[in-house]
Amino acid sequence: MLYHLLMENTQEILEWYVEAGVDVLLEDVPVNRFEELPPAPAKKNQGETLAAKRLNERAPPAPPRIVQTEAAVPDANAIENAKQIAHSANTLEELKLALASFEGCNLKRTAKNLVFADGNPNADIMFIGEAPGRDEDIQGLPFVGRAGQLLDKMLAAINLDRGSTYISNVIPWRPPGNRTPTPQETEICRPFIEKHIELVSPKLVVLLGGSSAKTLLKTSDGIMRLRGKWKEVDVDGSAVKAMPTLHPAYLLRQPAQKRLAWQDLLQVQKALLAN
Ligand code: URA
Repeated sequence: MLYHLLMENTQEILEWYVEAGVDVLLEDVPVNRFEELPPAPAKKNQGETLAAKRLNERAPPAPPRIVQTEAAVPDANAIENAKQIAHSANTLEELKLALASFEGCNLKRTAKNLVFADGNPNADIMFIGEAPGRDEDIQGLPFVGRAGQLLDKMLAAINLDRGSTYISNVIPWRPPGNRTPTPQETEICRPFIEKHIELVSPKLVVLLGGSSAKTLLKTSDGIMRLRGKWKEVDVDGSAVKAMPTLHPAYLLRQPAQKRLAWQDLLQVQKALLAN
């Protein structure tokens, strides 16, 4: 509220919402929020008045229920299906095509574009974020918004750029309103990012932020505990050296933490030079 009082005009308030990830009032696809509700338990008639009884008798009929024709949320079958599809891709092009025609993840329905990757697929190093935001969804490329601009500066600080790195995300479709992906959404996308790492076959991966690190390291530890220490991502039986670090979007909110990210990046640079 205090922010609102301080802001001088509506434009600033709108920009503030967009910064916070609130860039839609209504989703593209209607959501029937009553669909999942269990039937109400039968109530005992605890002295209903005659007037109330008459009113209830005259209540209008319930509106028709919207029936979902496809699974809205990935289930165990969908996850198994995703594994098989990802597994059968033999090249990055095949993996991209497989994702483009994959209908098992609800996030695809609200996203404008598939955000597959950017950079050099022959690079020694791969950076992996969480999920595309608004700008990435519009352009179909990872890390092109404000966080991406900071990522570019982080790369430059260790003499890298998009020509010498490969960049992708755990989730290839933007979650509506930039909400956190659900565990089911993450699990259904996991086989694709694991296959993605396997096909790029980098010497090192950098896991940007807690979500990427937790998913690919299969741990519930937080990023502050994980960052700055070399770990291993397991892809199809072989281990890839991985450095978890702070997400650039977090660093935009907490610039004082950049010094921790800098320590991690120096380790990454050292490992790249040693390779
Ligand atoms: N944040 C991410 O994790 N990935 C992007 O592509 C953009 C922002």
